[in-house]
Amino acid sequence: MGQNLILNAADHGFTVVAYNRTVSKVDQFLANEAKGKSIIGAHSVQELCANLKRPRRVILLVKAGAAVDSFIEQLLPFMEQGDIIIDGGNSHFPDSNRRYEELKQKGIHFVGSGVSGGEEGARYGPSLMPGGAEEAWPHIKEIFQSIAAKSDGEPCCDWVGPAGAGHYVKMVHNGIEYGDMQLICEAYDLMKRVGGFNNKEIGQVFSKWNNGILDSFLIEITRDILLYEDVDGTSLVEKILDSAGQKGTGKWTAINALDLGMPVTLIGEAVFARCLSSLKDERIRASQLLPGPEVPKDAVVDKEQFIDDLEQALYASKIISYAQGFMLMREAGKTYGWKLNNPAIALMWRGGCIIRSVFLGEITKAYRENPELENLLFNNFFSSAVAKAQTGWRKSIGLAATYGIPTPAFSTALAFYDSYRSERLPANLLQAQRDYFGAHTFRVLPEAASDNLPAGKDIHVNWTGKGGNVSASTYDA
Ligand code: 6PG
Repeated sequence: MGQNLILNAADHGFTVVAYNRTVSKVDQFLANEAKGKSIIGAHSVQELCANLKRPRRVILLVKAGAAVDSFIEQLLPFMEQGDIIIDGGNSHFPDSNRRYEELKQKGIHFVGSGVSGGEEGARYGPSLMPGGAEEAWPHIKEIFQSIAAKSDGEPCCDWVGPAGAGHYVKMVHNGIEYGDMQLICEAYDLMKRVGGFNNKEIGQVFSKWNNGILDSFLIEITRDILLYEDVDGTSLVEKILDSAGQKGTGKWTAINALDLGMPVTLIGEAVFARCLSSLKDERIRASQLLPGPEVPKDAVVDKEQFIDDLEQALYASKIISYAQGFMLMREAGKTYGWKLNNPAIALMWRGGCIIRSVFLGEITKAYRENPELENLLFNNFFSSAVAKAQTGWRKSIGLAATYGIPTPAFSTALAFYDSYRSERLPANLLQAQRDYFGAHTFRVLPEAASDNLPAGKDIHVNWTGKGGNVSASTYDA
């Protein structure tokens, strides 16, 4: 990643100093990929800093966590007031909040920047999501926007917000990435286990989808993966152990959603789906013990209709996931006092990053039309798209349930949609239950208020005649 970002910057006319603690890697790089380019090698942190013009701009691409703090410690003796340290790793945003504050005390501007797009993105145009000390932005803007991916000529990079906001937005990006990947996996599973498609046929479906509303990097690579054959001519993907790994950014998003009380259900399910997949041994035992449904033997699937329905299910679920992601960022903005720029975030994700898609162009448009849009689902384009997709979406989930195929992400998206559009939910009963067993109190609907049930007051009722009339203190976590 680091090497590729350096080469990218050099190609855009910047002179870059390269440093790696394994100095032989620096020499190797200079003798090979960096040969003839405006790249200078450094063999120590001191040499790195001595070669930089002021204000120094140092970008770290090291493993998130202790390695970032350790590198910053090494840099500090050679940095001066006004210099800039940029962390381009997948750091957890509370760490970036802390580093921003600590470095501010020392007069150093800290920038935590999301960098997405993998090695290829770093080389030819990543999506960059910088946040932190705004004073640094004029000094890094030109470099960042030059090396970033472009979408319709616009750079997929803009200033995100203060402190850890850049890494926060990258975290949500990764959570959405988990969701998109899980949705695609569910579609593949349904095609395989309900539709009876082979991987070549599934690859062709993804290829077709990639020319339509689902056009995106993840659909494109899924097509390639499904069509990829091992040396023996069989599909490689079928030989891969079905136990998913994770480095933690999706989990951080789900935990943050719980902390902020936002129903980011699809990312949550995507993280849990990875956890469940990794219980492989237990699943093997369960598969022998726990029966599934009787699947109608003569069930004939109209394959074309089935694929069209599935495309709609994937599209609608994706809309829900992005709506949830933006709900989370809206809440984070309020809680942490950040003014997050929604149209710019959508544009940053439009190109260069793992979740890049045509669909993000529509999100950019929606937020440009109305930067204060309360919910993506309140935009006409998206509300009509979901309305149009819902028949196929519901049919796909129904079919999955009939066949006993798990679709946690499709299903949670639909449950969210049906909950969100319900003026009335059964939480009235839940409140009654809480008050019944714990005197936790409830409030009444304004139209149902009366002398004994006053509006706007926390009320406790002695449901059994045996409990007390004293209510517990009322608070919400
Ligand atoms: C990106 C990716 C990347 C992430 C990997 C691995 O934007 O380039 O999000 O930053 O680290 O996708 O993530 P998991 O190991 O958690 O799947």
